[in-house]
Amino acid sequence: MKAWVLKSVNQLPEFCEVPVPESKEGYSLVNLTASSLNHRDVWITKGKYAGIQLPCVLGSDGAGISEGRRVLINPGWYWGANEDVQSRAFRVLGMPDNGTFAEYISVPREFIHETPPHLSEVEAAALPLAGVTAYRALMSKCHPIPSHKVLVTGAGGGVALFAIQFALALGCEVYVTSGSHMKMDRAIGMGVAGAVNYRDDDWMDQLKKMAGGFDIIIDSAGGDGFRHLVSLSNPGGKIVFYGGTLGNINGLNPQTVFWKQLSIMGSTMGSPRDFAEMLEFVDKHRIIPVVDEVFEMEEWDKAFEKMEQGQQFGKLVCIHS
Ligand SMILES: NC(=O)c1ccc[n+]([C@@H]2O[C@H](COP(=O)([O-])OP(=O)(O)OC[C@H]3O[C@@H](n4cnc5c(N)ncnc54)[C@H](OP(=O)(O)O)[C@@H]3O)[C@@H](O)[C@H]2O)c1
Repeated sequence: MKAWVLKSVNQLPEFCEVPVPESKEGYSLVNLTASSLNHRDVWITKGKYAGIQLPCVLGSDGAGISEGRRVLINPGWYWGANEDVQSRAFRVLGMPDNGTFAEYISVPREFIHETPPHLSEVEAAALPLAGVTAYRALMSKCHPIPSHKVLVTGAGGGVALFAIQFALALGCEVYVTSGSHMKMDRAIGMGVAGAVNYRDDDWMDQLKKMAGGFDIIIDSAGGDGFRHLVSLSNPGGKIVFYGGTLGNINGLNPQTVFWKQLSIMGSTMGSPRDFAEMLEFVDKHRIIPVVDEVFEMEEWDKAFEKMEQGQQFGKLVCIHS
């Protein structure tokens, strides 16, 4: 079968011929019809990921056909019994285990789920990793209600867009930041109440003017700007971050955090319960993942370059057949 295999870091994966995986006891073979890219895949190609073992077929997200059913794969394996935190056995599909940028994959049956019927193969492949990360960060950690004001930073990102869609589906008033006016306009078109450009020096003042303050903030940037999120939080507010694109958080004022009784939480992917609830929520609200571009399998390397340049609004999807 054909697959995109990473053979060494600091280069893109290679499109090559590899053996079809053998099915083992408790596993099922999935004929993958589509897969999607996550920033994790890009970090891995750059060697910026713990525990890299090569060669490896990359890819955490996949949809396809298994035993006659339309399925998608939960990429978070062996979470363990504690809902609060993953076990030491936790692993993410696509490193070190061979991932979804291939024609076939063999997957433990417990991680195979029926595709919500309203989703196409392309849409289904866009959902798993980003969807469960957004679901846990927003829903499981913050328990939003319709009266909440929610800020999602970096509106163009895969996870961020699901957080926006989930919060809008609940009826929350949603605001976003983005580095591009085109992406801000796209977010407004989806129904967000306001958008500001994080490249403006006064982005936090603009948000304060627009919204007052926020009950929930979902962030993946970290860095120096994070301290402004604390200022923008309403008393009793919750800030969840699942990424650290801009590096270490500096200049956090402890007095503001404790006086406002803020909860600042980290979040990573999600448990099997989060994943199942996310699928139910997507099904109930007929949520359709935002897909930026679909690539043929042979040209999938172009998607890595596009994500690195940050041009996308939504998910980059690879169609396998
Ligand atoms: N902990 C976890 O389980 C988990 C899961 C998934 C992802 N992540 C991490 O989360 C990050 C995003 O992942 P993704 O797959 O959604 O990536 P992506 O689709 O490539 O999105 C990149 C994101 O970074 C935003 N961004 C860039 N510069 C920014 C800035 N100065 N301020 C605010 N936002 C900025 C972009 O916003 P605009 O495009 O709107 O400018 C966009 O939302 C990555 O670091 C990834 O490794 C963690």
